Amino acid sequence: MIYCDFNSSTPLSENLRGFFFELPFANPSSQNRLGKAALKHIHQVEDYLDTHFKLNKRYISLFHSGATEGCNIFVKGCLNKGDIFYYFDLDHAAVLKQIPTLEQAGIECIKLPLDKSLSFKKDEIFKVFETHKDKKSLLNFTWLHNETGRCWSLEVIGEIKKIFPNILVHVDATQTVGKIQNYKEIDHADIFTYSGHKFGALKGIGWSFFKSDLLAKSLTHGGGQQKSLRPGTLNTQGIVSLKYALEELDTKSAKDLKSIFKVFRSHLLEQDLIIDFGEFQNCSQNTCFLVFKNLQTQLVLSALDIEGIYAGAGAACSSGVFQESHFMSSIGLAKYAKNTLRISVDPYSAPQDLELTLAKITEIIKRIS
Ligand SMILES: Cc1ncc(COP(=O)(O)O)c(C=O)c1O
Repeated sequence: MIYCDFNSSTPLSENLRGFFFELPFANPSSQNRLGKAALKHIHQVEDYLDTHFKLNKRYISLFHSGATEGCNIFVKGCLNKGDIFYYFDLDHAAVLKQIPTLEQAGIECIKLPLDKSLSFKKDEIFKVFETHKDKKSLLNFTWLHNETGRCWSLEVIGEIKKIFPNILVHVDATQTVGKIQNYKEIDHADIFTYSGHKFGALKGIGWSFFKSDLLAKSLTHGGGQQKSLRPGTLNTQGIVSLKYALEELDTKSAKDLKSIFKVFRSHLLEQDLIIDFGEFQNCSQNTCFLVFKNLQTQLVLSALDIEGIYAGAGAACSSGVFQESHFMSSIGLAKYAKNTLRISVDPYSAPQDLELTLAKITEIIKRIS
């Protein structure tokens, strides 16, 4: 098996072996000693996250089931009738699919411009913000795009917060952990959201960091855990798995995979198999995005699958049915929306393994085209 779908889900961290039975099973909200022991493990993870992400207690952690829930808690929870929601077509479905509900609730949803470079078009975007600057609003900022690996700098958020204090910024940081060098250096935004299964922790666990003065209404009601913002019994095993997976990442060092992908892409370009989508200046080194001239993704995915190579297309982790690339229409390439392929590998792969994998993929693509 050759697994090239890391942006959907990663294999479990080696550090998780056997850890399930080491942890107290009691409810971390229970007042007995065993419950308190479980809660202690959770507090240790909170402290670990604060250190790992260099937060210096500037943010509070909220645990949830993953980025989909996190995006919903903070987008819906922070906005009210008359407010504005800013988004991009490259945002994940966890964000985009909220739009009809937000509009029904009287929240104006404004799509921000994108072009083929998928960069943050500051001048144009700031003009839009200027027009609505007196209104309370929330901007969803996807730090690293799951399909293309395109990465945005967080610096612009500092400027946004200075010039437009009424804008809350939610950073969808789901894809960043372990993939970009500065993923620990979070700053400026009001909220950051993550998912454990993107870096070796369990599925069904994620968290968000948010500023202590943030006002968000709760979407669910229950036993008052996590200051009632996301009540429900805390998932001790899931939460501890986050720490174990992050600790394993800290023992690894990233290799130069970008140059290998560059050679691979230029080879396919020479053969006239893909369109020249260009190189992104700032990009995750584990992801290679291809847009085929004439080949449909479904055909390519099946051919790779038969050979035991598992890749992906469309937004990482959607419902399991093939989905065309949503953002392609936004950048004027709708006719290729069903022709994209995402090869996303372990950011810590050995370069020679990646070279072998890409040679096999090239061979298969040539054979079916
Ligand atoms: C950028 C981004 N946001 C949100 C999600 C949703 O994550 P989850 O399915 O873990 O809730 C994903 C999944 O791929 C993603 O890539």
